[in-house]
Order: sequence, then structure tokens, then C-alpha cells
Amino acid sequence: MFGVFVRTVLRPSVKPCHLVRPITQRSERSISHQDSLPKQPVPPLKQTCERYLASLEPIVSEEELGHTRKLIDEFLKGGVGERIQKGLERRARKTENWLSEWWMQSAYLDCRMPVAVYTSPGVVLPRMHFQDRQGQMRFAAKLIAGVLDFKKLIDTNLLPTEYLSNMPLCMDQYYQILSSCRIPGPKRDTVVNYAKGNMPPTHITVVHNFQFFVLDVYNSDGTPLTVDQIYMQLEKIWNSSLQTNKEPIGVLTSQHRNTWGKAYNNLIKDKTNKDSVRAIQKSIFTVCLDAPMPRVSDEHYLSRVAAQMLHGGGPRNSGNRWFDKTLQFIVGEDGTCGLVYEHAPAEGPPIIHLIDYVVKFMQRTDFVRSPMVPLVMPQKLRFNISSEVKRDIENAKQNMTIMVHTLDVKAMLFSHFGKNVPKRHHLSPDGFMQMALQLAYFRMYNICCSTYESASLRMFKYGRTEGVRVTTVNSLRFVQAMAEPAKQKSEKQALLRNAVQTHKENTYNAIHGQGIDRHLLGMKMQSIEDLTSMPELFMDTSYAVAQHYNLYTSQVGSKTDCVMCFGPMVPDGYGVCYNPMDEHINIAITAFNSCEDTNAAKFSCALEEALLDMRALLEDAA
Ligand code: COA
Repeated sequence: MFGVFVRTVLRPSVKPCHLVRPITQRSERSISHQDSLPKQPVPPLKQTCERYLASLEPIVSEEELGHTRKLIDEFLKGGVGERIQKGLERRARKTENWLSEWWMQSAYLDCRMPVAVYTSPGVVLPRMHFQDRQGQMRFAAKLIAGVLDFKKLIDTNLLPTEYLSNMPLCMDQYYQILSSCRIPGPKRDTVVNYAKGNMPPTHITVVHNFQFFVLDVYNSDGTPLTVDQIYMQLEKIWNSSLQTNKEPIGVLTSQHRNTWGKAYNNLIKDKTNKDSVRAIQKSIFTVCLDAPMPRVSDEHYLSRVAAQMLHGGGPRNSGNRWFDKTLQFIVGEDGTCGLVYEHAPAEGPPIIHLIDYVVKFMQRTDFVRSPMVPLVMPQKLRFNISSEVKRDIENAKQNMTIMVHTLDVKAMLFSHFGKNVPKRHHLSPDGFMQMALQLAYFRMYNICCSTYESASLRMFKYGRTEGVRVTTVNSLRFVQAMAEPAKQKSEKQALLRNAVQTHKENTYNAIHGQGIDRHLLGMKMQSIEDLTSMPELFMDTSYAVAQHYNLYTSQVGSKTDCVMCFGPMVPDGYGVCYNPMDEHINIAITAFNSCEDTNAAKFSCALEEALLDMRALLEDAA
């Protein structure tokens, strides 16, 4: 989802956009269709250039646009574009996916910013009503059992295939999210996945009061522990980690990647530390039993939890994480729950699907009661803290304090309506929401900005995401019209419909591999690989403007009443993630307090107003 990219679209025969259907499941085994998935296409060169120019129109000046037109002309006519395109097409023939490796590197592994806040999304689950340790343990035990039940589907290749617009989707990401971990490197990180080895792990890690434990979750006959058994083991962990004065070793993983890379090498010089780190990396997933956070009013509760999911909330819980771990479920003593995940192996939808499954599993009442056979004590992971490691931890704590103060989060439940209203008016709910974001931004800043929305490329083997460029000439016309009191409502409504339709078409193109941004990224990477000079197109002001996503957005829908959240892409921008339910919308907005111009709470008010005004527009004009 993250990284600096842009892109576009298109095949001459754009199909009607109402054919785009949300992700659904069918019962065939996911493995059966995997080999027959189509390869991600390289879009036609001229098409991308034309769409790129069109996408610039609402966000750059006439002069800048004129300059870019000239550059595109030279790129197309001078043979450079053609040569790069041929290189890309060659790469597409030789690889299973021409983009996936470059994407993994440029969007994630080469990114040196901390994973916490900058690339790892959080998920806020509904507040639970336990208020004590027993409730927390019971909830965590069921959650662990639920994830293990889901793992069984993965291990036995019984995961139902997902479909988008009637096309089967690549299910590979599901095979990357368990038993995996990111490892910091001096210039580039790596991701290791232990599920594929001869001895796949049989343990999870549990962290409480900054102390990590290995919890074996399978019996010797290969059956998973029951909820009762897991509960008993969690109690033991809790009771042997009561001290609250331990070094928050996990906070090291929240550092800038180069800093953490150096600290990592310091840490694992010691054999005990190395073994402990390896046990965390190899574990199937991590469960963080968090300390209670200071109470806040109901109005601020969701925002407080979203921040806790993204960075841990500072001294209380930021050290209660291993941010490199792909999946970390967070269960707080005060009823807080959710997760944070390291983004490199997968996008949000598979993670949310796992959550939907686990939440349903937890609602079951037929859990097997197991005889209280004594189980071995979970192993506590030891760390020897040298003065060097201690210095690194202090440094990480200071930076985390800065991060906590810097991140501005507003998570909210928009309760007035959900997908029902746009659907009733025959509009795509996603397009409607995106136009509300455009309107809110325009009203706050009196200008449009470069806006990104993630769209799935999983119709293709190993496909990840494409960016939909949301700001278009039609979206600009709509938001400008909304500021003109003299304009007829029917005219404004027609402009809204046009803008939503254009967005739907761009989304259709993106998910069918005909977007702009990944192609542009591919051309850039190809010219680096060819060791030729970088085409001027990529050093142009328009290119920089287009990639400066002041609005960085994604829809991550779920059956569970939850919301995903992530940090902004640029220092003066917003990160916006939303989950449109039938009757309401869960929304999480982030910004940085270090920027005077942004304010997540103000933006959320502007968004709420925009959504209400747009509903009124549809209903009045109707
Ligand atoms: N009239 C009435 N209903 C309509 C409509 C119209 N004109 N257009 C769409 N709808 C309906 C759809 O049928 C669907 O119905 P459902 O609620 O019964 O399922 C619903 O409205 C939602 O459709 P829409 O709002 O258009 O969005 P979408 O579900 O097609 O999602 C994307 C669009 C871009 C979010 C999706 O294609 C996608 O790519 N998702 C993955 C995003 C991702 O990977 N993010 C990464 C995060 S890390």
C-alpha cells in the first residue's frame, strides 16, 4: 500500500464499471486456480503517457503541464520510451510477475523509515467489555485458537478462493503472513518465512510487561491446544512477568531501519540474544498483552486505540511489541484489542479476512473442554543487555516519545449512513467516499491535491496493488461547483455523478492491470537496471507533485465492525482508511502534528460535513 509510486491505466475497451464487484469467496480450494492466474500485463506505453498527462491536469499549473507534455513527446518520439517498454515486456515474459520483486524492494524493503506508523497498518477492533486479567486472558486464548483454526485452512490448502469482478484472485499473500518476520539490514531489509521449511514452527510468542515468551500451541500429536489449555499457559506467562521494570527491548524495532539494523547487529552478537530474537522471528505470530492505557472519554476512545495499534502509545506499551513481526495481535487489560502488521508480505484485505474469520470463531460456544493435563511452562526469552544495547534502547525510547507526540490520529464512526445511501442513488459507495474526501480537502485548503487510493492487483499472479489517482478533472469540477451557491443542485448532482463514474472507471482500469503508477515505476526501475540515464520525465516537477500524496487513502472493508489505520505518506498530508458498512462508516485519519497545516480532527469534521452535504444533494435533487 505504501511507497512512492504512481500510475495509470487503460485498454481501449474499457468495460462498464458496474461490472466491478467487491471481493467475494467461493468454496473451491485456493490452490487449484493459482497456476492458471493470468500474468500482470505491461500496459501500452502511449496509453500510460496519455493517462499520466490527464491525471496531472487538476494538480499542476498550465506551465508545468506544458513542460511535461514536451517531455512525454520526446520520451515517445525519441525512442527512449520504446526501448524501456521493450525491456519491461522482456522482463514480463521471463518472470512470473514483472513488478512484484521491484515493488517489494521499493515500497517496503528499501524504505528506511520506521515500520511503526510509516508503513505498518494497525487495526482497531470493537472495544471488549472485560476489565480484568481473567477477561483479557480468556479473550486472548480464544483469539489464539481462532488464528490456529484459520492456519489449518492455509496448511491444508482449504482456504476458499476469493473473487473480484468474477475473476479468481491470487491467494499467495495468505501463505506469507504466518511464521514470517522482517529482518533489518544496513541498506535493505529482508523478509523470512519459516512456514516453508522442513520444521515449520509450532510456537507463538507472547509478550507481557516487555517480556517475551515462547508458547507451544500444538500437542505432540499435532493437534492445537484447546482454549482452556491456552488460557492456562497465558496465566503462567502473566504470573512470571509481573515485574514492570524490565528493559523494553522490543522498542528497538520501532527505530529508523538503518539505526535498528546497526542495533540489531549489536544485539545478536550475544548468543542468548540471538536465540531469543530467532525464536520471535520464527514464531507463527505474536500476541501482545498490553498494560491498560489512561482512560479517555468515549469520544476519544477510538483515536486513542488507533494510536496504540500504530505505535503502542509510548512508555506503557511501545516496548511490548516486535514491530518486525508480520502479525501482532494486541489485547489490553482494559478491553482494548486490535492488531498491527508489518506490511511487506501482504495487503490489508487478507489480514481483515483473517480477522473476520477469527471474530466469528470466537463467537462459538462449543469450545472443547479439555482435561487439565499439566503442560510445560512456556519458555521465557532471555536478553543480556550490554551497555551498548542499553544505549540503543534509550535512543529508541526517545524517538518513540517523539513519534507518539508527532502522530495526530482521529478515528471515528460516521453514524449518519453507510453504503446504503450511495447505493440507493445508484452510485459506487467507494467513489462517493472518495469524492467526499476531495470535497473536504478542497473546502479546507481551497485547492486539490494529489490523491492515492489502493486498488487490488490480485487478479494477476503475485499481484499486489495499483494506485488509483483520485483527483481528476471531473472531481475538480464537482468540488468547485459545490462552492458556488448560485449553481443549480441538479447541475451539482450531475457533476458528482460524473466524478464518481470517472473514479469507477479508473478503479476498473487499475484492478485490470491498466493503471498508470506501477507502469511508471516499472519504467523508472527498468532504466536504472539498463544503466542508462534517467529519463527527464522522472525528474520533472509534475512527477514530484503527482507523487506527493497529500491524501493517501484506502478502503479496507470487512464484516467485522473494525477499522484499519495507517500513517500519512508525506509530512504535510493525511492517511485515510475507511470501512464502509451498510449503515455507517468507520474512518481513521492520521496526520503529523509537526505540520501546522494539517489537523486530523478538523479534517474529520470537514469530511463529515462533506458526506452530509453530498447526501443532501442527492436527496434534494431527487
Ligand atoms: N449502484 C449500486 N451499487 C453499487 C454501484 C452502483 N453504481 N457501484 C457499486 N455498487 C455496490 C457494489 O456492488 C458493492 O456491493 P456490496 O456492498 O453488496 O458488496 C458495493 O457497492 C461496493 O462497491 P464499491 O464501493 O464500488 O467498491 P468496491 O467494493 O468495488 O471496492 C476497491 C473498490 C478499489 C476498494 C476494491 O476494488 C479494491 O481494490 N480493494 C482492495 C484494496 C486494497 O487492497 N487496499 C490495500 C490496503 S493495505
